[in-house]
Amino acid sequence: MISRTAILVLLFSAIFSYGQKNSETEKKIDKLMSKMTIDEKIGQLNQLSGEGLSQNIVAQVKNGSVGSLLNEVDSKVIYELQKVATTQTRLRIPLIFARDVIHGFKTIFPIPLGQAASWNTSLVEDGARIAAIEASSVGIKWTFAPMIDVSRDPRWGRIAESFGEDSYLISKMGAASVRGYQGKNLADKTAIAACAKHFAGYGATESGKDYNTTWIPEVQLRDTYLPPFKAAVDAQVATFMCSFNDINGVPSSGNKHLNDDILRKEWKFNGVLVSDWASIEQMQTHGVAANLADAAKLAIDAKVDMDMMGFAYTKNLKDLIKNKSVKIKQIDAAVRNVLRLKFNLGLFDNPFAENSESTFYANNALSSAQKAATESVVLLKNNGLLPINKDHKTVAVMGPLANSPADQLGTWVMDGEPNHSITPLDAIHKNFGKNFTIQYEQGLAYSRDTNSVNFSKAIQLAQNSDVIVFFAGEEALLSGEARARADINLPGAQTKLLTELKKTGKPLVLVVMAGRPHTIQKEIEMADAVLYSFHPGTMGGPALANIIFGVENPSGKLPVTFPRLVGQVPIYYAHKMTGRPAKDIQLINEIPVGAPQFSLGFTSYHLDAGDSPLFPFGFGLSYTNFNYSPVKLSATTLTRENSITANCKVSNTGKMDGYEVVQLYVRDKVASLAQPVKRLIGFEKIFLKSGESKELSFDVSANQLSFHDSKNNLIVENGEFDLWISTNSNSGSPQMFILK
Ligand code: BGC
Repeated sequence: MISRTAILVLLFSAIFSYGQKNSETEKKIDKLMSKMTIDEKIGQLNQLSGEGLSQNIVAQVKNGSVGSLLNEVDSKVIYELQKVATTQTRLRIPLIFARDVIHGFKTIFPIPLGQAASWNTSLVEDGARIAAIEASSVGIKWTFAPMIDVSRDPRWGRIAESFGEDSYLISKMGAASVRGYQGKNLADKTAIAACAKHFAGYGATESGKDYNTTWIPEVQLRDTYLPPFKAAVDAQVATFMCSFNDINGVPSSGNKHLNDDILRKEWKFNGVLVSDWASIEQMQTHGVAANLADAAKLAIDAKVDMDMMGFAYTKNLKDLIKNKSVKIKQIDAAVRNVLRLKFNLGLFDNPFAENSESTFYANNALSSAQKAATESVVLLKNNGLLPINKDHKTVAVMGPLANSPADQLGTWVMDGEPNHSITPLDAIHKNFGKNFTIQYEQGLAYSRDTNSVNFSKAIQLAQNSDVIVFFAGEEALLSGEARARADINLPGAQTKLLTELKKTGKPLVLVVMAGRPHTIQKEIEMADAVLYSFHPGTMGGPALANIIFGVENPSGKLPVTFPRLVGQVPIYYAHKMTGRPAKDIQLINEIPVGAPQFSLGFTSYHLDAGDSPLFPFGFGLSYTNFNYSPVKLSATTLTRENSITANCKVSNTGKMDGYEVVQLYVRDKVASLAQPVKRLIGFEKIFLKSGESKELSFDVSANQLSFHDSKNNLIVENGEFDLWISTNSNSGSPQMFILK
């Protein structure tokens, strides 16, 4: 039995192991700061990009004018620079080395959008833990992840780095990721500080073009964009990063409302807030700062602690203090946050990594990456062709992503090595080559290729095969930062080649490996079965091969809505009802010539796309079938004091064992501000053997039904609510309850 005191001690140390203040550490900070010159203080707020052991960097480290370096990953260089910082500087303050370890350091997991498709928070936590173990072994102690921007626009390349469109799902994934990176205690050797980014609203970028302006009313900011960040604070994330965008005209790096009113005061965050790359300096380009000094003042006034590659602080803070535009206590507050992070990470006691490369690509890391890749694959269509069985002896493997080791890793892979990737072609040969005859013709050299010179070879190969498995998609470099696309069809001549292959009459499996949702309505119609794999990482090949041949059962569910046409964007499940929801839809080609103006009705839809997405949020099929019993509520009246329980029995009625993601949605039917037609408030991923059933119960309490009113207060209003427990955001029948 653990005593009550022991529990309190454990609780206490857990609370104080992250960004929180601990009086002993605060005393150490006081002592250190009492010795620091103004230059040394400003140095702590300066983050530079690594240049190896260049004279410039070594000199700056020596004179204490840099507090952190990013993009230095050579363990020997890190060691040498840390040695300079801790032995040759006046105050021996260690450096903190940072890196974008976004979905793996060496062992690459699926891109975050793919990880979200697994709806499995423990896989996300494991992935971040493994990334931290690998990265910390070279001396990296800070990652710029998780990216928890709500992303509802597939044109935006950074949707790849996100956990998708839904605030609740992102909150769960983001918190899991923070736990994984930071481990049980930030001072542990393998813990690295996580960074909640980009604060905030970056995903609302106009037209999906990166860095673009955003207009976000406060209610929407608080109901949709901020909850994942609050969840990260609750998970004790050590750092935050500003976003590049302006919100309603105010760039985040100078946004007092966001960074001070909300992050510091409301949420009591005392970790480090770092700018994005040169985002302080760029306030001049935004047109809100006349010069670099103005930009520095805006940022420090907005409580931004560290200037990443902007040089605004190093060049201006001293003068700003001299001329009394900035107070020394502002600098002190920022320096305290930086030093606290370094103390909490244990860098003063253990500045060096233990190293070694033997931690890379460990067996457990590879199997965890494969599990994550497997669970991230979404089955979008299956007319029974998948899994491929012995009736299809000769398999034609094709397409530009079938054997593209670098592309399957996806965006933001700075340290992962393509020569460690196992591609689908490798895995199919190795694991299924004995029982099937595997033939290969890529058809197109890369995803954007428009050259049809190899089409005839591909068609011939298809004719001589029993089934075609075509790996389509986009190259890694087409998604990620600054990779916006206005056309999200499959690039190059992929659709053209698929159309030719379809004409052979052979059964066609389409696998799309991509960094975003693509508009693939035509391709879905052509194929007999379709798997969607957001760039799946190092172990993507075996994961996909095992699904294709039935060793694994797909269980991914879309973390983002798939549009039919790009013109439907933004399209997301939690939209508002409008006063005239779509009814009696007549599509453009169904309208009789000369039809009178009024014959089409007056409701909300696109003449050429209707009102529905290609696939809704939460959608994903399985090789087995799941049956949902009607939902039973423990009571139809909910009070603010007591919760009610929603129960449902889910049964695996098919022949294969499998995972199902059970989703809980609600709708506030009448509120003082119009509410979304549905809102995810819970989910559970369960494993059911063929023939097995499980009773699930979700507690629903009043605080899960809250929203912000027009005065920005979080409120819950009495009235009628609908509730669904279902397999995706567009299924199930509602159960009504009343909040009194
Ligand atoms: C990105 C950040 C990233 C930073 C450092 C910026 O361009 O927006 O997400 O962490 O670079 O590499």
